[in-house]
Amino acid sequence: EKGGYDHFMLKEIHEQPKAITDTYRGRLLANEGIIRMAGIDDHMNKFLNAERIIIVACGTSWHAGLVGEYLIEEFARIPVEVEYASEFRYRNPIVTSKDIVIAISQSGETADTLAAIKLAKSKGAFVFGVCNVVGSSIARETDAGAYTHAGPEIGVASTKAFTTQITVLTLLALKLASKKGQLSKPELRSYLQQMQLIPNKVEELLKIDTKVKKIAAVYKDAPNCLYLGRGFNFPVALEGALKLKEISYIHAEGYPAAEMKHGPIALIDENMPIFVIATNKGHYEKVVSNIQEIKSRAGKIIAIVTEGDTQVKEIADHVIEIPETEEAFTPLLTTIPLQLLSYHIAVMLGKNVDQPRNLAKSVTVE
Ligand code: F6R
Repeated sequence: EKGGYDHFMLKEIHEQPKAITDTYRGRLLANEGIIRMAGIDDHMNKFLNAERIIIVACGTSWHAGLVGEYLIEEFARIPVEVEYASEFRYRNPIVTSKDIVIAISQSGETADTLAAIKLAKSKGAFVFGVCNVVGSSIARETDAGAYTHAGPEIGVASTKAFTTQITVLTLLALKLASKKGQLSKPELRSYLQQMQLIPNKVEELLKIDTKVKKIAAVYKDAPNCLYLGRGFNFPVALEGALKLKEISYIHAEGYPAAEMKHGPIALIDENMPIFVIATNKGHYEKVVSNIQEIKSRAGKIIAIVTEGDTQVKEIADHVIEIPETEEAFTPLLTTIPLQLLSYHIAVMLGKNVDQPRNLAKSVTVE
């Protein structure tokens, strides 16, 4: 049932090229320069007239929502807010019929997310779901939606659900952008062609597993870790930290790289591993100077860079290369080595990777 892998989590990490492909299949029509998503097409006027999009979710799905915010604002130029469902539902939020609420949930059963949807509906908002489980409560409660086609996710730590949620949000952002005239047909086509190359690039990245395992062996006994990223990769830093916390029980925090100097930099010494995402187009020079700040305080730097990088390589203690792609698509690649890293550390520490203590796969209590 684990398909030859030691754990479901590892199997699910390796299923990502297929899961991403399954999620865009039939939707992404690169040659035609079209994105087909019935849940949006059937309600296009609502999307085009929306004054705001509010994304509600919990945990890893909330991180995908943050990537969604960056994607939708960048491409479709619609204002987006991302809220923890548990906060949204209890703070008497301002929601009107001009808002679209996007609820993201792998299981489709998360109690807080479900309650947030009911609240948004009662205030007249149109609610769009991004769920993995067909026929789940959230899928049924929403007005329309787009399923992720990740297949069953058994490991408690979410992996392929995250990357397929980002896939759906990318398609949604590009589709709205093109409908709103923010992207020309040739531009859209070129993005879609790039998008189609992602599964092979993920496949390529999965091959560096031995290298990631060696890095895991170096840092497995660290009591604390920091994860830094900017722009599209800021949420990936949060997600990287969450994966490590959940399955290895090592304290980790994710931060936008430039926020470090406003506090967390005080934590840095020679015992602190810092995972930095430094892709070549995403504020690269700024991240390089953030890395220099860490280096001058003796922190250990493990950097995720784009193939062919030279600057970061000179400063970092370890580098992991990702294939070149559009900056907006890099979360689908930078996430992969961070998942593998957490996995290997947890295995080396003898933790129960698929069923970490205190956690359940779907959180149906508030
Ligand atoms: C993290 C994880 C949780 C879930 C969260 C929301 O690996 O699995 O943080 O992401 O409980 O669950 P769903 O997406 O099912 O609503």
